[in-house]
Amino acid sequence: MNIVGSYPKTRLRRLRKSKWIRNLISETSISTNDLILPIFIREGKNKIESIKSMPGIKRYSLDKLSSILNQVRKYKIPMVALFPYTPNLKKDKHGTEALNPNNLVCRGIKLVKKKFPEIGVMCDVALDPYTSHGHDGVIINKKIDNDQTIKILVKQALLQARMGCDIIAPSDMMDGRIGKIRQELDRNNFKDVSILSYAIKYASNFYGPFRDAVGSKSKLKNDKKTYQMDFRNSSEAFREVALDIKEGADMVMVKPGMIYLDIIKQIKNNFKVPVLAYQVSGEYFLIKNAIQKKILKDDSVIESLIAFKRAGACAIVTYFAIDIAKKIKNIYL
Ligand code: PBG
Repeated sequence: MNIVGSYPKTRLRRLRKSKWIRNLISETSISTNDLILPIFIREGKNKIESIKSMPGIKRYSLDKLSSILNQVRKYKIPMVALFPYTPNLKKDKHGTEALNPNNLVCRGIKLVKKKFPEIGVMCDVALDPYTSHGHDGVIINKKIDNDQTIKILVKQALLQARMGCDIIAPSDMMDGRIGKIRQELDRNNFKDVSILSYAIKYASNFYGPFRDAVGSKSKLKNDKKTYQMDFRNSSEAFREVALDIKEGADMVMVKPGMIYLDIIKQIKNNFKVPVLAYQVSGEYFLIKNAIQKKILKDDSVIESLIAFKRAGACAIVTYFAIDIAKKIKNIYL
């Protein structure tokens, strides 16, 4: 295949000379269909509170959740991901609150499905919002115990499904949990509840602001490297995805996103399942902070999201979902 011409017969700038021709030949686009908005929820009434490490992002008490969900509806963002900020009082070693049918996330799911039935809801399956040590699983003999953790996660997933959660998203990185969760969902006739596996979740430094937002940062004494993936590896990602698909995952997530575009692309090219990506809190912060300080232009956001699409992501979990939906409504659709 000879695609190399030569100057002056070939001038690549001819294809860039005006906006319409650039639009005509563009290989990638983004629409609001591609966005998932994470939302932090909290206890109490009449609260919309700022989060220091995440400028522009708030925690909402449930009675105020409609203010953001109305925007999600208005801009036709297909799905939200709910993350609870659990008061310290309700945290313990075993993350017991995760299985409380009246916990914050359960009430949140019910509220969204009742008032905004057309919006999809996804929820993490992991214990970190609920444990006093901030880890995603239970600790036995000083280790995060895989199999004991799964027993709890299966119950957590079933509970969320019962509340009306559409997509169960295990983000805990225990081995074998997808199969067990699928089995339990099916046994209870939740065959239409999907599983989006955070199959490739790196032990990343870029989760810092999120941990602050859900209140697990000060709890966590060490890192999550015994269960989340080593960021020096990529072939391991294939094994993670292969196992999760075999166990019944409908979709897989790569996380973080921007600094793992190589992984998104490889997974997209090698597995024919929907690949989603998470532009995580640290990535959000870097861009948002620079925009607020006028060091970067607003359009940096769209550039970052287009990069996800170019790499092969079908959807992106991003804290910029509303900001960008407002913009692309007119320009890019
Ligand atoms: C919990 C979870 C984390 C994130 C999403 N779910 C943090 C972690 O694993 O420590 C991070 C999201 C972000 O940084 O935006 N398992």
